[in-house]
Amino acid sequence: MKVLIIGGGGREHAIAVSMKKSRRVDTLYCVPGNAGIAQVAQCEPSIGVMEFDKIVAYAREKKVDLVFVAPDDPLAGGLTDVLEAEGFRVFGPKKNAAILEGSKAFSKDLMKKYKIPTAAYEVFHDPESALCWLETAAMPVVLKADGLALGKGVLICNTLEEAKAGVKEIMQDKHFGEAGNVLVAEEFLTGREVSVLAFVDGKTVKPMTSAQDHKRAGDGDKGPNTGGMGCFSPSPFYTEEIDTYCREHIYQPTVDAMAAEGREFKGVIFFGLMLTSDGPKVLEYNARFGDPETQVVLCRMKNDIMDVVDACIDGTLDRIDLQFEDSAAVCVVLASEGYPVSYQKGYEITGLNRFEGREDYYCFHAGSKLDSQGRVVTNGGRVLGITAKGSTLKEARAKAYEATEWVNFDHKYMRHDIGKAIEEV
Ligand code: AMP
Ligand code: GLY
Repeated sequence: MKVLIIGGGGREHAIAVSMKKSRRVDTLYCVPGNAGIAQVAQCEPSIGVMEFDKIVAYAREKKVDLVFVAPDDPLAGGLTDVLEAEGFRVFGPKKNAAILEGSKAFSKDLMKKYKIPTAAYEVFHDPESALCWLETAAMPVVLKADGLALGKGVLICNTLEEAKAGVKEIMQDKHFGEAGNVLVAEEFLTGREVSVLAFVDGKTVKPMTSAQDHKRAGDGDKGPNTGGMGCFSPSPFYTEEIDTYCREHIYQPTVDAMAAEGREFKGVIFFGLMLTSDGPKVLEYNARFGDPETQVVLCRMKNDIMDVVDACIDGTLDRIDLQFEDSAAVCVVLASEGYPVSYQKGYEITGLNRFEGREDYYCFHAGSKLDSQGRVVTNGGRVLGITAKGSTLKEARAKAYEATEWVNFDHKYMRHDIGKAIEEV
């Protein structure tokens, strides 16, 4: 079959590599793709993920059998609905289900209504009522822009002054644009964070292996929040007991709640969890695969990804025996110095051929492109996701860091403590 992937980051590269392994995929296309994805798929860099008409025309021209929509913006914007209306088979939730990620106020209200454990919260539609409520609120408090904000619309405020400034930043100065029209103020939770991605077919949910992301730019979790600087899987803190609890109290209830609301969810739900002393609580939902979680999760999946994708679309996920290797993986992001604030692009990347033919090592491209001379150059803040598998997390971590030395580009930057927490276990 012919498959078109929508997106162009490390997550989409990892998805493309998994699909390339499928016995059922003949040709892969990707819009817009990147220089790494171009090694396994035919890319169309001139089309953006929000250019729905062009995507439909491209899918028609290539006569694709299935479109896999990976990023949040087109999902929240209804690309799945548009493609389905044109007769395409699509993986990814419809607009009325992607709201699970697209509106934090929606997801918090859903969790409250269906008693899914999460932090206590309030929703505000104007800055005055938010400021008034804050006067008597416990600190720290977490302020979140309601809409999509590239994972950056969350402010942890330690004092009333910081919180007031946060309300101004989100609701008045519109730092995160329209995403800040509505504000969610949340109780501050403490504990270990873990990400669990799960396949969903509208009624059945099959969680994948766990992962943990490192969101801050600097070592020791210092510096600004980013899209993710590295990841490891599985999380040793996500025990079988916690998994059993989450399946019963979080995963299945979420899928059932969406169905009960007439918003049947098909695709992947990303459960961002905090393992608190009161048990696991949902920090956030995403309506898609995570980045860079996908890079460390899919490379350990034993199933043919297309079998699972089909089962999600057809509502037959209960027949899939989802299996992961008893291995571990670590992904270290190589970024451009200055990310996420300001950085340069266009530097040549060398050493990529060192990954060729090396089993258990992956160089997923996040921000790269081919320049006019055919060289691979940096094209984003996050450039590469150097990923390795090992029999233990420790081994995977050593291999991933070893491989970060194989590639070079000017102003290469990385964290040195990805997965370090695992050494405490
Ligand atoms: P989110 O985009 O909602 O996942 O938030 C981004 C990050 O902010 C999370 O990964 C957590 O580290 C942190 N965070 C979000 N909500 C809370 C909360 N209620 N308590 C403590 N930290 C939080
Ligand atoms: N790694 C977090 C996300 O994909 O939103």
